[in-house]
Amino acid sequence: MSITKKDTVFQEQILEGIPHKLPTKKAYPENVNRAPKRKDILSLDEKKLAVRNALRYFPEEWHTELAQEFRDELNDCGRIYMYRFKPDYEIYARPIDAYPAKIASASAIMLMIQNNLDPTVAQHPEELITYGGNGAVFQNWGQYLLTMQYLATMSEQQTLHMYSGHPMGLFPSSKDAPRVIITNGMMVPNYSQPDDLERFNALGVTQYGQMTAGSYMYIGPQGIVHGTTITLMNAFRKILKENENSKGKIFLTSGLGGMSGAQPKAGNIAGCITVCAEVNPKAAIKRHEQGWADILIDNMEELVKRVIESKDNNEVLSIAFIGNIVDVWESFYDENIFVHVGSDQTSLHNPWSGGYYPVDLSFEASNKLLKDDPQLFKEKVQESLRRQTNSINKHASRGTYFFDYGNAFLLEASRAGADIMDKNQIDFKYPSYVQDILGPMCFDYGFGPFRWVCTSGNSEDLDKTDEIALNVLRDIQATAPKEIELQMNDNIIWIRDARKNKLVVGSQARILYADAEGRVKIATAFNNAVKSGEISAPLVLGRDHHDVSGTDSPYRETSNIYDGSKFTADMAIHNVIGDSFRGATWVSIHNGGGVGWGEVINGGFGMLLDGTKESEQKLQNMLFYDVNNGIARRSWARNKEALYAVKREMDRSPSLKVTLPKIVNDDILDALYD
Ligand SMILES: NC(=O)c1ccc[n+]([C@@H]2O[C@H](COP(=O)([O-])OP(=O)(O)OC[C@H]3O[C@@H](n4cnc5c(N)ncnc54)[C@H](O)[C@@H]3O)[C@@H](O)[C@H]2O)c1
Repeated sequence: MSITKKDTVFQEQILEGIPHKLPTKKAYPENVNRAPKRKDILSLDEKKLAVRNALRYFPEEWHTELAQEFRDELNDCGRIYMYRFKPDYEIYARPIDAYPAKIASASAIMLMIQNNLDPTVAQHPEELITYGGNGAVFQNWGQYLLTMQYLATMSEQQTLHMYSGHPMGLFPSSKDAPRVIITNGMMVPNYSQPDDLERFNALGVTQYGQMTAGSYMYIGPQGIVHGTTITLMNAFRKILKENENSKGKIFLTSGLGGMSGAQPKAGNIAGCITVCAEVNPKAAIKRHEQGWADILIDNMEELVKRVIESKDNNEVLSIAFIGNIVDVWESFYDENIFVHVGSDQTSLHNPWSGGYYPVDLSFEASNKLLKDDPQLFKEKVQESLRRQTNSINKHASRGTYFFDYGNAFLLEASRAGADIMDKNQIDFKYPSYVQDILGPMCFDYGFGPFRWVCTSGNSEDLDKTDEIALNVLRDIQATAPKEIELQMNDNIIWIRDARKNKLVVGSQARILYADAEGRVKIATAFNNAVKSGEISAPLVLGRDHHDVSGTDSPYRETSNIYDGSKFTADMAIHNVIGDSFRGATWVSIHNGGGVGWGEVINGGFGMLLDGTKESEQKLQNMLFYDVNNGIARRSWARNKEALYAVKREMDRSPSLKVTLPKIVNDDILDALYD
């Protein structure tokens, strides 16, 4: 690669870390999607502490000037982002050899960080938020600068420890240890209420890492397109008769943000009419311009007309509608438009800080109310959730299949007092997608969102990996048992068509649902291809945290665990520790993912495949555990698909010995408390 002046500036600035000379003050960025103002929750003493905390990144002689600026940021934004220190160089996933690091694994991690903060990828790049409204990579630009400097200078005998965006430092370790250990939002359990996040985040001592934001593993909306496609195809399979297909059938949902923006694309791949309501015009326009939604409509009359027309013509179409989802549910009911499948993907894991916009208030008016009167805003949100639920209930009584897509819709609607509980007052009226679809069909068999990134940045490398993965899956399919036939077929179609579906935004990355066997065999084939030069540079392997083993979340990933253990988090902790000594290049564990602070513990890993024998050993050792840990736990919870999968794995892998449950006859228990 020839080095340009721009590259040199980029490298020099990274090596400098916190600049030696105080950069000039920047005005607040305009014309970009900025994070909403966060709750003003700190007392005066705590505000002083927040400024004191922020200043510890900088030399004393700058303190007087920066103290005032940070006070103003805290006042205006509810957080101290240190905008002045945002570097001027472009932030995007440059190829692996563009970084000034000493070791390839550190360069790969820098590449992944750059991708998470790329303005074409990230939701609020100025505030270091990748997705989900508050999914942060770092709390402030000071942390970013220091972390990049540490990565650039570290050796293979050191590990960088990250505390919620703050680089605590490099500690001596060994070549086999992970290069980075990340924790985000880990709290002493009693301090995990939503306001605790607001307080401790404002103080600068914790952050909301979401899932792949704070672990440097986000690959744009592609990651979610695949999961949403699988979910949607199976939702339609549940309601359609054998001779029917999804053409001309309606999928109604909301949200065109970081993750939710994938829904129209997934709808197109699943072959239905998708109507996706979004209150923020900027988000809707962005998704339309990116080609993720076919058409953009901003008034209800036109929407109703177009939907009826598409239905009559049996079309496959995705519509980004600028407006509130509650209005759409209500209007479609009044207009007698039958919704086949319904869901919601507003950011209800973050309901009081702009994750959900109440009906009957414009986007601007909502933002103003949120700032001026957060309590009234909260009441409006809850009222809106009750209205939305009422309308969904009416549609459901006509036959709509509604499912919760892991955004805490059912949970927050229930907390708002909406009519959402089942007759037994324990369960919700509607299933979560994990209970009905993804749990029994994918996670219990070990299928989950495996992914990889080509560090060369070349699309040819990505094409090559698609081809390799397709061949591996076809080989496995030839002898696969009927229990996983459907999953194998869906994934073969996905990877076969991945290039055609133009899924790449940001780094050259691919996602593919695969089980342990698939992941290990694909990764081994990739490592061989890197070694032979067929693929021109190392690959990064990883996965979404939303997977078989990495996440304990009673209203999402582990919602189909019925032995009472869904409220425990042992699995996620074992996973991150287990992965860390089996070969991961970096590992992460977070409080707060898709369903909210205190509602989930989720973890993930990254692994560099550089074509060496060590890489091969590490991938085989770690990927096997990374999947089978969760299958074992799911089988212990008596999930029959997981029992099948773990027994099959023990037959193939003699050193795996898992404790299996004895199943009790119902009659014995029924007689017990008669
Ligand atoms: N099931 C999964 O696999 C999965 C994956 C990712 C995210 N999620 C969850 O889905 C939610 C959305 O994630 P995201 O990254 O897209 O968040 P986001 O904040 O980027 O997007 C949500 C969008 O919803 C819009 N919105 C809010 N209230 C609305 C309303 N009443 N009507 C219409 N639009 C409204 C917002 O303007 C925003 O653009 C989060 O809670 C996230 O945790 C689930």
